[in-house]
Amino acid sequence: MLDLASLCPYPMPVRAIRRETADVWTLELQAPGDYHYQPGQYALVGIDGGRAVRAYTLSSSPGISDCLSITVRRLDGGLGSQWLTGAVQPGQLLQLSAAQGEFVPQPARSRYLFLAGGCGITPVMAMTRWLLNHVADASLVVLYNVRTPRDIIFADEWTALAQRYPAQLRLQRLVDSEPDADCRQALLSRELLQELVPDIAGRVVMSCGPEGYMALAGELALALGVPAADFHHEAFRAAEVAAVDAGDAVYQVLLQPWGDQAAVAAGGNLLAALEAEQIPLAAACRTGVCGTCKVRVLEGEFSLGEQSALSAAELADGYALACCCSVLSDLVIEGV
Ligand code: FES
Repeated sequence: MLDLASLCPYPMPVRAIRRETADVWTLELQAPGDYHYQPGQYALVGIDGGRAVRAYTLSSSPGISDCLSITVRRLDGGLGSQWLTGAVQPGQLLQLSAAQGEFVPQPARSRYLFLAGGCGITPVMAMTRWLLNHVADASLVVLYNVRTPRDIIFADEWTALAQRYPAQLRLQRLVDSEPDADCRQALLSRELLQELVPDIAGRVVMSCGPEGYMALAGELALALGVPAADFHHEAFRAAEVAAVDAGDAVYQVLLQPWGDQAAVAAGGNLLAALEAEQIPLAAACRTGVCGTCKVRVLEGEFSLGEQSALSAAELADGYALACCCSVLSDLVIEGV
């Protein structure tokens, strides 16, 4: 079990659990008075008494929402999301970390285009509420892609905000299928952005959703004249356990000082291999951003993907982020 007292030191009782769509729930939490966060940030959440930690966006807005909340999509086989949306009951205590992340409103900027796909709407809602309340000349365009109208998260609140702030908020719901009066059938494209947001070049563009969606959003924004410094995307993905890649060779990973061992196929992901053996290693963002899964490789060959959470000195000293580490030989690693 993980040491939740140090990883996630804020206990918060669950006040209520609200279903948003067929596979998304919002958990309302009673945060302590000294818990501070910015709209759009995320926190690590302890899962099932310390079996794991996972990162979830705080879908509430500080100073506006009457409680802190996380909004969670239930994923098949997802340890964190299955537990949070299936086992947790009102009254139960959750453990949260301090709020983290840079996906927040930009200082002194009032004109935004938010591009959200699926559950990526959670930080966008947190920021939209906050900007409409705090920035007098806010001008917000929200393009929200979902599969069908039934998959819109915070559906009633979006409708209410659009009605209450017609001059400040322009909301376009976009669906893959089953369009209706509120939801247009369209995918994110250059033509769509040119039509709906002709002044895109003068807006801060913030995107959150699946990796492919955010990559496309960035490509289109830059092509339409948005300065690179004005494009932001959510860097953490609340992905659940990644599959170990298949390969011919199988290597052994030895975790010191505890002596735990895991087998991993050649090129397989180190974190996934440890988790498959239920070897506890804290991990949250699972994309090399938060630094939670840091280990030190004492022996063996490996390759690294995203490692921006490590300093040059740490990289030179053999540190690696397990979530972005591919195993290329037998490894001896040290938990830190
Ligand atoms: S889990 Fe965040 S860096 Fe690996």
